[in-house]
Amino acid sequence: MGSREKNIKISYIEISVIEDLRDIDKRLLDLALRAAEKAYAPYSDFKVGAAVLLEGGLIVSGSNQENVSYPLGLCAERVAVFAAASEYPDRIIEKIIIVSKYKNGQLKPVTPCGSCRQVLYEYEYRQKKPINVLMTGPEATFLEFENIASLLPFVFSKEHIP
Ligand code: THU
Repeated sequence: MGSREKNIKISYIEISVIEDLRDIDKRLLDLALRAAEKAYAPYSDFKVGAAVLLEGGLIVSGSNQENVSYPLGLCAERVAVFAAASEYPDRIIEKIIIVSKYKNGQLKPVTPCGSCRQVLYEYEYRQKKPINVLMTGPEATFLEFENIASLLPFVFSKEHIP
């Protein structure tokens, strides 16, 4: 009787040409791509770079770090955000960009995994300000999300624990 279907709407912006990115996003993209080149991904050969923009314009980047014991590796997003939060714990995290590219230099679509979303949400919750996310979508587009919460419906948060 009392059941009802409900729908969730997720809004994002699709940017189809690099030139349409803001200057700061082009800078983030450049640093994330450089980070991707430094990835340690001998097992998957999937090199990912992430760049985190902090208030005041500081940028901290990171790349995925794999391990022969596979589950111990860490995604680029977590490497970058942990580095940023440990070095600058009091700075607001404004944005993160995530990228990967094919050997021919073309951008490869990559979106943050569920674990990274949960980790990023922790900082969004802590700072009470949205963290924008820019990711590479299909056909070399960019997808921009206002905040982490929109990528994690029904997120598990501090509200759930006493
Ligand atoms: N990876 C990332 O670094 N970020 C993502 O958003 C997706 C996946 C890494 C984990 C692993 O080293 C490799 O990509 C293949 O999954």
